Amino acid sequence: MAILWGGRFTKDNDKEMFDFNESLSFDKRLYKVDITGSLAHAEMLGKQGIISIEEAEDITKGLKSILGDIESDSLKINSAAEDIHSFVEAELIKRIGDTGKKLHTGRSRNDQVALDMKLYTREQIDSITLLLKDFIDVIIYKMEENTDTYMPAFTHLQKAQPTNLAHYLGAYVEMFLRDKDRLKDIRKRMNLSPLGAGALCGTTYDLDRDFVAEKLGFDTATFNSMDSVSDRDYLIETLSAISIIMMHLSRFSEEIIIWNSNEYRFVEIDDAYSTGSSIMPQKKNPDVAELVRGKTGRTYGALISLLTTMKGLPLAYNKDMQEDKEVAFDAMDTVSKCISIFTKMLYTLKFNNDVLAESAMKGYTNATDAADYLVKKGMPFRDAHSVIGRLVLLCLEKDCAIEDLSVSKLKELSELFDEDVYDAISLKTCVERRMTKGAPGEIKKAIEHYKDLNK
Ligand code: ARG
Repeated sequence: MAILWGGRFTKDNDKEMFDFNESLSFDKRLYKVDITGSLAHAEMLGKQGIISIEEAEDITKGLKSILGDIESDSLKINSAAEDIHSFVEAELIKRIGDTGKKLHTGRSRNDQVALDMKLYTREQIDSITLLLKDFIDVIIYKMEENTDTYMPAFTHLQKAQPTNLAHYLGAYVEMFLRDKDRLKDIRKRMNLSPLGAGALCGTTYDLDRDFVAEKLGFDTATFNSMDSVSDRDYLIETLSAISIIMMHLSRFSEEIIIWNSNEYRFVEIDDAYSTGSSIMPQKKNPDVAELVRGKTGRTYGALISLLTTMKGLPLAYNKDMQEDKEVAFDAMDTVSKCISIFTKMLYTLKFNNDVLAESAMKGYTNATDAADYLVKKGMPFRDAHSVIGRLVLLCLEKDCAIEDLSVSKLKELSELFDEDVYDAISLKTCVERRMTKGAPGEIKKAIEHYKDLNK
């Protein structure tokens, strides 16, 4: 067994204890960031004269060969090592001999794992950001195609007012732009290097922590060694941002599931992104949307899990913190897969424009505009609301739309009605003359704004 701490012990761990304690089975994905961190550490040790330049070079060569072999699959990470840090160190010693034993000078696995998780999380933040960018581009593309596609907008899942599809989709652009921004904030706040904090109280070696920080793309080294090894706030923030992304994706999924239903028929999901039923031949199910909605739960679980793990921990490192990995990795994998597949599903999604427009025509979505018509003719809004309420009741009895009634019939409810009412409550007017900032009539300006923000 490749353990790093055998000296004080007189016998091996019980096998069940070893298995219970090990993290290699899940932290092996940290191999690259672990080696990247070690390369910077070794170079700094050489520069500071803590080890010789030749030793630093040997270590560098050894680490690079290990990285190359793992990447080309000629070295498998499946030894009996306790974790990825032990695995790499044992492999280094195997390759370069005693010099390899000097790599861990002035370092603990506590600051090493803190560094690895930060480097890995930072990479994940960057790749999730890119996925979000592509996704937002696809939503914007769909918006541009649908500035004239009228549809009903809902409150309480009841038809409320008409809008255009671009305006509807724009709401999701706003959400995902905020998500991208949140990741950017987290990245900035977390970008301090913990390496050199040692186990918890720093070290007497003359380490150049800022040199390592700069090498690894951090803004600076951290300022408190105890916090450095026990901070997982950035990971909690990342899981929170991931949960919010998933919540947004889940809402969008819910729309698509409803829109795809036989009753709505607003959309047609591409065959490549839906499935059928083993028994009911007519079925075409919205599985991507349902799975995304379903997977949202596990990302919330990851967030709550880590919050709970951290809440009782005194300073500094405690082994409880090893529990950050599986949940965080799962949440990162989940959100990435979900954004990627959802993007493809949306890109190929067909909107049934005729069905959308017809749905907007029905259900009295122009009732507010009819009331506004009377207000513009001098009636107080509350009275207009009541008149149109009675008008809708009448239409429901007659099973017709407001615009189906003649002017003389309308005048029975208010003398203020005239020929111009039909234009005032037409679908086109209702959507396109709503020109306040953020409203559907201004959607083309919003599209330009989003394009700018998503650069
Ligand atoms: N596998 C450990 C983790 O993930 C690495 C740090 C171990 N440190 C220690 N003092 N045992 O947290």
